[in-house]
Amino acid sequence: MQNQAISPTPLPFVVAHRGASGNAPENTLAAIRHAAELGCGWVEVDGTVTADARAVLHHDDQLDRCSDGSGLLLAQRLETLRTLDFGQWFDDRFLGERIPTVAECGLLCEELHLGCNLEIKVVDGWEEPTALAVCESVRNHWPKSTPLLFSSFNQAALLVAKQLLPQVPRAYLATVTPQEWQYVLEYTGSSALHCGDNACLRRSVIQKVIEAGYPVRVYTVDDPQRAAELKDWGVEAIFTNYPARMTGLGA
Ligand code: G3P
Ligand code: MG
Repeated sequence: MQNQAISPTPLPFVVAHRGASGNAPENTLAAIRHAAELGCGWVEVDGTVTADARAVLHHDDQLDRCSDGSGLLLAQRLETLRTLDFGQWFDDRFLGERIPTVAECGLLCEELHLGCNLEIKVVDGWEEPTALAVCESVRNHWPKSTPLLFSSFNQAALLVAKQLLPQVPRAYLATVTPQEWQYVLEYTGSSALHCGDNACLRRSVIQKVIEAGYPVRVYTVDDPQRAAELKDWGVEAIFTNYPARMTGLGA
């Protein structure tokens, strides 16, 4: 079957993971700003949903690791989440950093001329509402000229995005590339494979995926030597917490 998925313009080799999250609190506007300061052209962030169906940036189901709140993010309304601090856990310099909405992320990317890989980060059992909220926010607020790419580990979320916003390219995320990768890419209408850098990652598989017409991008790569090796394998982009380490590899 032909790959019918919409392809984004190729990504630069270095993409800032959760913003420049090695140097600023992940998934905050400060981390996105820092990525731009380091010369990145694209950022990856995680989009999820609040109790009142607002799309915000956050990685974990729980609030505890990256804020002064606790418990499930999904159980809180946006106005409550806005009272929490999402910066001080990382460093006192970031005290007062608030949880960003997807809409605010889009506006900042527009201002900084950044492309954005918005990963749809679902809570188990809440896949479709998460994807709906993220897509709704993008539909209503994402700046038209700001490059956007959806990705998700969750196939149901990708299918919601495909149905609601078919013009936004999608990538399928896999910790370990499944044997049936081609079927999943076609089924979800994904134009690229994003896969984890671990002992299961094989050059031969990556080459097959690329030969089938799908760019491969790898997360999370913080070692510049490994990044250079992956580039040699034909990997289009890496997601890194430390873009500054990747000098010369292409931001
Ligand atoms: O999108 C790449 C990467 O962010 C996927 O894993 O857990 O860091 O969101 P995670
Ligand atoms: Mg992510």
